[in-house]
Amino acid sequence: MYIPKGAIITYNTWRYPDVSRFIPERFIDVNGALTDDDPAQCVFGLGRRQSTGDASTWFAIVAMLATLDTSPAKDDQGKVISFTPTFIAGVVRYLKLTRVILSSRH
Ligand code: HEM
Repeated sequence: MYIPKGAIITYNTWRYPDVSRFIPERFIDVNGALTDDDPAQCVFGLGRRQSTGDASTWFAIVAMLATLDTSPAKDDQGKVISFTPTFIAGVVRYLKLTRVILSSRH
């Protein structure tokens, strides 16, 4: 294979149908066991340029889930401000920022 000088090579992480939907069943086989298709093996990159952030991201998420309650923000009248999660597309996909209330569980 000829790869021209200056080419940028990246990998395709869009291998799941309807990739934007939360479908954990993708990773469970007919017996209810986890398949060996572990997206963590590619979402943080591959090879020598792999992200150094996998462990710290895991720790941050686990710490937040273990210690914080998350609820929708309220307006001046105390009514819940409803929202539909929307994303900003790009090389990396971002959740559009929205107001939520984080409160300590302890
Ligand atoms: C959900 C969270 C994260 C995801 C999905 C993610 C994903 C990625 C990806 C795909 C790359 C590019 C790998 C490549 O060039 O092929 C990268 C690079 C990198 N990430 Fe992350 N990352 C995340 C969080 C973090 C955090 C929290 C840190 C630091 C504390 C971090 C530090 C880095 C660094 C330093 C690189 C550059 C590595 C290099 O080029 O040698 N990342 N990340």
